[in-house]
Amino acid sequence: MPQRKIDIFDTTLRDGEQVPGCKLNTKEKIELAIALEDLGVDILEAGFPISSPGDFNSVREISKVVKNVTITALSRAVQKDIEVAADALKYAVRPRIHTGIGTSDLHIKSKFNSNREDILQRAIQCVKWARNFVDDVEFYAEDAGRTDNEYLARVIEAVIGAGASVVNIPDTTGYCLPHQYGDKIAYLKNNVSNIDKATISCHCHNDLGLATANSIAGVIAGAGQIECTINGLGERAGNTSLEECVMILKQHHSLGFYTNIKTEKLNPMSRLVSDTMRMPVQPNKAIVGGNAFAHSSGIHQDGFLKDALTYEIINPRDVGADDSKIVLTARSGRSALAHRFQKIGYQFNRNDVDALYQQFLVVADKKKEVQDEDLHQMAKEYQLTVVN
Ligand code: KIV
Ligand code: ZN
Repeated sequence: MPQRKIDIFDTTLRDGEQVPGCKLNTKEKIELAIALEDLGVDILEAGFPISSPGDFNSVREISKVVKNVTITALSRAVQKDIEVAADALKYAVRPRIHTGIGTSDLHIKSKFNSNREDILQRAIQCVKWARNFVDDVEFYAEDAGRTDNEYLARVIEAVIGAGASVVNIPDTTGYCLPHQYGDKIAYLKNNVSNIDKATISCHCHNDLGLATANSIAGVIAGAGQIECTINGLGERAGNTSLEECVMILKQHHSLGFYTNIKTEKLNPMSRLVSDTMRMPVQPNKAIVGGNAFAHSSGIHQDGFLKDALTYEIINPRDVGADDSKIVLTARSGRSALAHRFQKIGYQFNRNDVDALYQQFLVVADKKKEVQDEDLHQMAKEYQLTVVN
């Protein structure tokens, strides 16, 4: 089956950095930008230059050093914003201006006190203005998730006509269900006459925990770009997680998509972002959480020790994680206990298993996790033979 390349647009440094407490200085942003380039992202959103002199400077400095990636800067549909974004991108080899406006009736009325026709004209004008500075313009229809499809299609057709090469369909509030978001992308594919002149981009938020599922639904329906962040960082409940999308497309290869991400760099990248942004990763986070490759219940441990594939769909080395862990708890079984005793150097006779296991459970019930020191103590009391 022919494979379709999906562009990975990383917005850790812009949408991700909007998390309270995650603010980065220019030096930190440059370090992360270099690591993201190394990871293989296609587009890097470096910031929102009009928002502060510091952010302007970060976009400019990143543009000077990161040369193998398209660098993009955010702007509102405001001439001054666009000019400042263009100026910040002056040194970029492949600059992109990301500009746009809210298109849902809620945004049109409550934010802009305006009407659909006026917003349509502003959308066209901002793309035209941005095209004076760069060839690559991405238009975002903020709150597209709650925008009427017919109106959205009119806006998208008009901005492509005005020169946008990428059209971003954000589910800004993370409201859509996967089939609704997928249907929205399919609707645009079928109802925007010039859609083949542009790439459709998914930009999903995680308010209902559906950002990744929605992005994948968008890709299946025809989108060619996913906007995402490392560790799923972002406003409120966060953005689509880069590592999750990349691994879904990789593990479900038969869907027919691929990315250029070097997956063995995902865990080191996650740690770097977590440390730099001072934002711990939850242990049960898919792909990069501390427990993503840890097995603690007896049934799972027994299966895993017979054949890792029984309980692991990803080889931890493929995502740069530490080797899988067998954690000894009161839920562990005899095989895991025997395995650990052997690993730490004891000759373990199967006849001893029952006696040791009972002793193990007494210790395990008092602790969250049984450590090697506990096993050494048990081995001493039971007089287990040490190998060599
Ligand atoms: O969530 C959103 O709508 C955005 C746009 C500014 C692209 O972040
Ligand atoms: Zn966003």
